[in-house]
Amino acid sequence: MRKIIMVASALFFVFGFAITAGAIHEIIPSESQMPEPGPDAAKLNEYIIKYDPYRAWQLWPDKGRLYKGSQPHGALLTTFMNNAAYFSRQKKQGMADRSIIVKENYTADKKFVALSVMYKIKGYNPAAGDWFWAKYSPDGKVEASGKVKACIDCHTRQADNDFIFTGTVK
Ligand code: HEC
Repeated sequence: MRKIIMVASALFFVFGFAITAGAIHEIIPSESQMPEPGPDAAKLNEYIIKYDPYRAWQLWPDKGRLYKGSQPHGALLTTFMNNAAYFSRQKKQGMADRSIIVKENYTADKKFVALSVMYKIKGYNPAAGDWFWAKYSPDGKVEASGKVKACIDCHTRQADNDFIFTGTVK
């Protein structure tokens, strides 16, 4: 009998500890998670390169890699969407808060020349779809960012489609 009690309490100790550890683990967010970058081009770049690498995201459906683009973005394009953007597109209700679209721009001979990014931040710029715009050189230098007039002026043609050209999202 004593032996049974000893085994039972040992088991209780081990499982009790495991359950408690599990509970603590759920409360503490993973260290690998960086907070949302917000309207900051350098942080956004760090986020999409290091913390949630965009090259592991979904491609824009039916587009594949190095599809034909137009001015000003480049002859060939590859467009990636984070989960928020990917699932928003499926629902056709416009892009949800935190959606990120990353487009690699290439020349006709496949030279990578720039990264164009649209990042939805609720409340950031309601007059133009709440998009934060950013353009980077291939080595991550910020070439334009924020409420960039040139980006907005052209993409406003697609205001009815949440300022998106590549496909229907609404
Ligand atoms: C003269 C018009 C024009 C300007 C200026 C422009 N874009 Fe675009 N953008 C387009 C078109 C057209 C597409 C669709 C892809 C293609 O055909 O090149 C596009 C596609 C995109 C996409 C993929 C999502 C979508 O809308 O389809 C992103 C991201 C993007 N642009 C970001 C930017 C950023 C950032 C800037 C400013 C630095 C910018 N664009 C400036 C015309 C423009």
